[in-house]
Amino acid sequence: MIKNIAVIPGDGIGEEVIAQTVRVLDAVGEKFGHKFNYTYLEAGGCAIDSTGKPLPEATLETCKKSDSVLLGAVGGPKWDHIPGIRPEQALLGLRGGLGLFANLRPAIMYDQLKEACPLKESIIDGGLDIMIVRELTGGIYFGKSGRSEDGQSGYDVEEYSFYEIERLLRQAAEIAMKRNKHVTVVDKANILETSRMWRECAAKVFAEYPDIKVDFLYVDNASMQLVRNPRQFDVIATSNIFGDILSDEASQITGSIGMLPSASLGEGSFGMYEPVHGSAPDIAGKNIANPLATILSGAMMLRYSFGMQAEADDIEAAVGKALDAGYRTADIAGGTTPIGTKEMGDAVIKYL
Ligand code: IPM
Ligand code: MG
Repeated sequence: MIKNIAVIPGDGIGEEVIAQTVRVLDAVGEKFGHKFNYTYLEAGGCAIDSTGKPLPEATLETCKKSDSVLLGAVGGPKWDHIPGIRPEQALLGLRGGLGLFANLRPAIMYDQLKEACPLKESIIDGGLDIMIVRELTGGIYFGKSGRSEDGQSGYDVEEYSFYEIERLLRQAAEIAMKRNKHVTVVDKANILETSRMWRECAAKVFAEYPDIKVDFLYVDNASMQLVRNPRQFDVIATSNIFGDILSDEASQITGSIGMLPSASLGEGSFGMYEPVHGSAPDIAGKNIANPLATILSGAMMLRYSFGMQAEADDIEAAVGKALDAGYRTADIAGGTTPIGTKEMGDAVIKYL
């Protein structure tokens, strides 16, 4: 198969982690007889520097013509004080502009890294494998926002249509069917009208999936349950802002945010894949960042956008073997001697 991938390294460590991911994809391509073509594009702070805009039209248009998008990370203190412009606007523009309404954020605890988990062993005994399915193109992120005329009050509106909720819940249901068939819908239905719509919609959608066990949690309770007993969760389906917050919490429970990939999907097979972590400007350019989250995002791309199951499995297995063999970047090294970003790329390729 030939696939055209739009690559957006972005800022900070983005370039380094993307470079290793491209090497791994090429190695897998060679092994399985695929050809991946890459078109490198600018978005984020680097695009502000070169064009004045976080998301140049050419970047969005080229992404639309590609089979998928692989993104490093955007942002950094350099661009924190430009009035009205932020590198993060590139992310929202890509999500909205590409119609990527479902964001899949797995929180997996690697057995090899369980010392990094901040929870007591008795709480995580047996491992952790949660999939957060976050709505990504609606809610308060895309609602009306502004200030009153005198500037003394402001507003950000949470608005959802049944259509937006339903397609997200369906996506969550489909994913749950391939996992442990348990979905927890997280909302704030004791307060918010939109949350009550989520519950109404869930009743309708899950009626079509009788094998799925569905439960509902208020977001405050869910955030507590995540640290009290995270093993009760399989798939969490939730709104844009609740998913943003809970996915950070869940990532920290695994102890290694440098390991977590994500996929953002729309209607067809098209998707955008990026690590959960940010651009980490403080360690950029030093060959110490952990490339595994991005490499695993590449694996998700093969699985969800290209239907390359065996190829995706191969990458994930190679990552596991590299960890088994003791290879660790600084963020997951514990007391051991760390290797660099490029050397981690080498290690994964060695075990493919
Ligand atoms: C994330 C990030 C983004 C979000 C920011 C950088 C806009 O926190 O992907 O979780 O809030 O969605
Ligand atoms: Mg976030």
